[in-house]
Amino acid sequence: MENRTTNILIFACQYCSYAAADLAGSERRRYPANTSIIRLPCTGRVDESHLLAAFENGADGVMVAGCLEGTCHFLTGNFRARARVQRVTGILENIGLNGKRLRMYNLSAGQGANFANFVTEFVELIDTLGSSPVNITRAKAPEFEIV
Ligand code: FES
Repeated sequence: MENRTTNILIFACQYCSYAAADLAGSERRRYPANTSIIRLPCTGRVDESHLLAAFENGADGVMVAGCLEGTCHFLTGNFRARARVQRVTGILENIGLNGKRLRMYNLSAGQGANFANFVTEFVELIDTLGSSPVNITRAKAPEFEIV
């Protein structure tokens, strides 16, 4: 699980998924370290611009992890997040980034093992896909000096 080159960003709802991540840590469950978690009050806070900005700023894969369906503390936040994830997945396909780089998961606070498994599964998928074309293009681009 070490020496990974991909960067994975996880938008996690504080009530469920972030708590599940905490539980995974408390239970000493292992999952890849090339992940960064952004804690949100609800996944309903994630909009399309956040997801696209994540890819623009170097993410190779993005997970949105919200409460189980029917248990969102703001009632429909996770449904709105899922709809936005689906819209951005289409955009990623259209611009050649591969829609598989973005995925929505649903968890309860007591599912630390599931959190670790979902992250591991997603990171393995992204490792298979490799670096995002955005990052590859950026790495090859010549540097310009503005005078
Ligand atoms: Fe967790 Fe809305 S409160 S997804």
